[in-house]
Amino acid sequence: MFSQGRCAVRRVCALAAIAVACGATAAFAVSPAPVGANHGMVVTGQHLASDVGAQIMQEGGNAVDAAVAVGYALAVVYPAAGNIGGGGFMNVRLADGRSVFLDFREKAPLSATEKMYQDASGKVVPGLSTDGWLAVGVPGSVAGFETALREYGALTRQQVMAPAIKLAREGFILGQGDVALLHEGTAGFLKDPAAAAIFLKDGKPYAVGDRLVQTNLAKTLEAISKDGADAFYHGGVGDGIVGASRAGGGIFQKADFEGYKVREMKPVECNYRGYEIHSSPPPSSGGVIICEILDILEGYDLNRMGFHSAEEFHVLVEAARHAYVDRNNKLGDPDFVQNPIAQLLDKSYAAKIRDSIPATKATPSADLGPGKDLHEGAQTTHYSIADAQGNAVAVTYTLNDWFGIKKVAGDTGILMNNEMDDFTAKPGVPNMFGLVQGAANAIAPGKTPLSSMSPTIVTKDGKVVMVIGSPGGSRIITITLEAILNVIDHGMTVQEAIDAPRIHEQWLPDVVLAERMALSPDTKAVVEAMGYQIKEVEPWGLAEGILLGGPSIALPAQGGGDAQPLSLGTQAAGDYKLFGANDDRGPAGSASGF
Ligand code: GLY
Repeated sequence: MFSQGRCAVRRVCALAAIAVACGATAAFAVSPAPVGANHGMVVTGQHLASDVGAQIMQEGGNAVDAAVAVGYALAVVYPAAGNIGGGGFMNVRLADGRSVFLDFREKAPLSATEKMYQDASGKVVPGLSTDGWLAVGVPGSVAGFETALREYGALTRQQVMAPAIKLAREGFILGQGDVALLHEGTAGFLKDPAAAAIFLKDGKPYAVGDRLVQTNLAKTLEAISKDGADAFYHGGVGDGIVGASRAGGGIFQKADFEGYKVREMKPVECNYRGYEIHSSPPPSSGGVIICEILDILEGYDLNRMGFHSAEEFHVLVEAARHAYVDRNNKLGDPDFVQNPIAQLLDKSYAAKIRDSIPATKATPSADLGPGKDLHEGAQTTHYSIADAQGNAVAVTYTLNDWFGIKKVAGDTGILMNNEMDDFTAKPGVPNMFGLVQGAANAIAPGKTPLSSMSPTIVTKDGKVVMVIGSPGGSRIITITLEAILNVIDHGMTVQEAIDAPRIHEQWLPDVVLAERMALSPDTKAVVEAMGYQIKEVEPWGLAEGILLGGPSIALPAQGGGDAQPLSLGTQAAGDYKLFGANDDRGPAGSASGF
């Protein structure tokens, strides 16, 4: 098995959005070669989980079996975001060409109300949607994994869950990346005895080399392995969560769990320069907004402009600004609101937006918004898997913030999400990701909050060429988008595309975020003169990606010309079919292939 998690030095930043940088700089002028393999590739944010996925495929499982095994393994070895107390999305492309999208995101409890986070005077109460049991949505991960395995897997539940149970029962040795993430939760764990008993050692943070054992979680996983999702939604596990919620001031009732249903959907699809993009439909905004931005950008020659040139920066930021207006005002749970997807992904709409973008100056965000102009309104983890048969799976799932509410439900060993913060607590008031959202995403019983998670699969002539996604709250969309642009427009290898420094624009606040070295000083001066306000912040996102068929997609040389396969120097690309890249911003992760 080939595996890679190269980063030896890392630091953790205070931002709620992704936090880990590698060495002296977050980006590589030229990245190392991606990991190559021929039979299976798994890229996740924790190397033990990557190895579990590869192992499951070596034992005869397909990419979906590996995805379920990894989902459970990350719940043990990556408790910051891997989970069975949260929810997410699984985007599956089967070897026979079928595309399936499983929505197992959290839902609002049946007793939830539109104004539950507001006081009597209508002011949003700080912390209510993020910190306590009122912040928790009904978890969907176990139902999602059960559906995926039943419909598309080849192995038994016992086979795919065995590695996670072993890791929980016997524990695993914490590396530097694991400990750094656990430290992010310390203040919260100290307030919850059940969390402190597991995630602190005698009330103090764990150190590198310590073993983290999760006996209660092992028992819960064994119950699920034996009785399936019934153990969670109709049995003792769900009862334990409801009891802990009630004791902690929450509003869960048994009916919330008994009524939980996974939605099987079609991915949102669009074409970009001859590639087909398959990504997340509502209740995620991710696929729609990635496609809307790509539709706008297709009218520009990004390859000629060059990576993060002033010219490319301008069109990318303006496209994102327009698309996030739509994200924040028009999209919501499809069972509750009408999502205008056809209108947003109409190429003539993209052309109108292009026409409105001034050639050389920034558009103030205040000039855009619901009713104006053309527009009428974290923490998470992603993993990518591909097998030799041609199946590919992209999963993004989450507790929302790192470790969710940082409370464990009684003796279940399960950390609970704070996904309710993804709803609009009140139109116009920003959430933890600074997103200013509208009524389409208002809270209602049984409704799913709007997400940005974007597990994405790119195909060419129906064959999978790329599997990609990332955590990062509202920045997930631009992280995933830039990785796709870096591969398709700039000819980067999958590792370079993921490591390359990022920029982010989300309409409000009216500021463009940039990682260190995302813009050269002279480019920054040019775009500032155009009216952009740039804020340099700590690195964000942990994209995990796979390219199939080569480490890069061969592109015409910059400025046009013949297609030129990229030379990697250190690796004979032709020897492999699958190329995996873990984001170097996350030192715990790895690409594991065989
Ligand atoms: N909780 C982050 C998202 O779903 O976008």
